[in-house]
Amino acid sequence: MARVNAVDALEVIPSGKALAAEVRGIDLALESPQDVRSALKKAWADNLVLLFRKQKLTDEQLLAVADIFGGHQSAGSRDYFIKAGYKPGETDRVAKHPDISIVSNLDKEGRPVKVTEAVGSSELDWHTDNSYVDVPPAGSLLLSYIVPVKGGGLTSFNNQYLAYETLPADLKKEIEGKHIRHDNLRNTAGRFRPTVQAPKTREDIKGPAHPIVRIHPVTGKQALYLGRKYEWPSSHVVELDDAASEALLAKLWQHATQDKLKWTHDWAVGDLILWDNRCTMHQRTTIDHTQPRVMHRALIKGEPVISAWKPVAAA
Ligand SMILES: [Fe+2]
Repeated sequence: MARVNAVDALEVIPSGKALAAEVRGIDLALESPQDVRSALKKAWADNLVLLFRKQKLTDEQLLAVADIFGGHQSAGSRDYFIKAGYKPGETDRVAKHPDISIVSNLDKEGRPVKVTEAVGSSELDWHTDNSYVDVPPAGSLLLSYIVPVKGGGLTSFNNQYLAYETLPADLKKEIEGKHIRHDNLRNTAGRFRPTVQAPKTREDIKGPAHPIVRIHPVTGKQALYLGRKYEWPSSHVVELDDAASEALLAKLWQHATQDKLKWTHDWAVGDLILWDNRCTMHQRTTIDHTQPRVMHRALIKGEPVISAWKPVAAA
């Protein structure tokens, strides 16, 4: 009989920080029976970010892991690259499988470089993945294939339940009923996507408006949902004028990105991290651009954002 994962072998070890746990005793290339899948989903809901070490997975197996947590969806950036003439599977910019993104700092010849058409070796500021689409992914899976031997490219995650919980009462009051329109013109490194024109006013920003506080569909808890902060004109509070929006966002970002809310990971080959885009943000330090770094990402299929501002239907 083929080997399968066993629930008794699972170990969930919390990081001791504001979020994240390491899961041991599992090989995600093997089949996971229902009780293992349930235990993993519970560990994810409890810890927001899960780390699995020494995983060796094909893209298909990575997508099968995504299925444990709700299925997979394509990255919002994919269409921009295809529109700009990139052919799926021909370069690292657009992976062959529509639901896999290659996160690397390699150029077309496979050499590590500072700048690519995607995020390259840049530092990536705090953000949640694909908040600029109508139905953002519930989570993301990132599996490392090549990591820089001299370090760099560390990823940090922060707990946005705690960010909301600890928000001063006056700020909680100020954001009530308000929404952020999320900028879909730029990538996570802050550069404009291929074929995109720079915006001149807030009316040029066409992304979706999401509530500033969302309700997690599994835990029922409230979390701050900020997306990504760029230079004006960009994401803004729909209900406020430009100056008031910028002032409020500055206060929220300062609160949401405090060190006490975060956990940081220094990658090794075979590390797989699963994070929840509904209640966490993440950032990445700069990569030494002489060092290759290659990872494959899959997005966990999302569900429509549940607003904290609408009355919740009685159970
Ligand atoms: Fe990201």
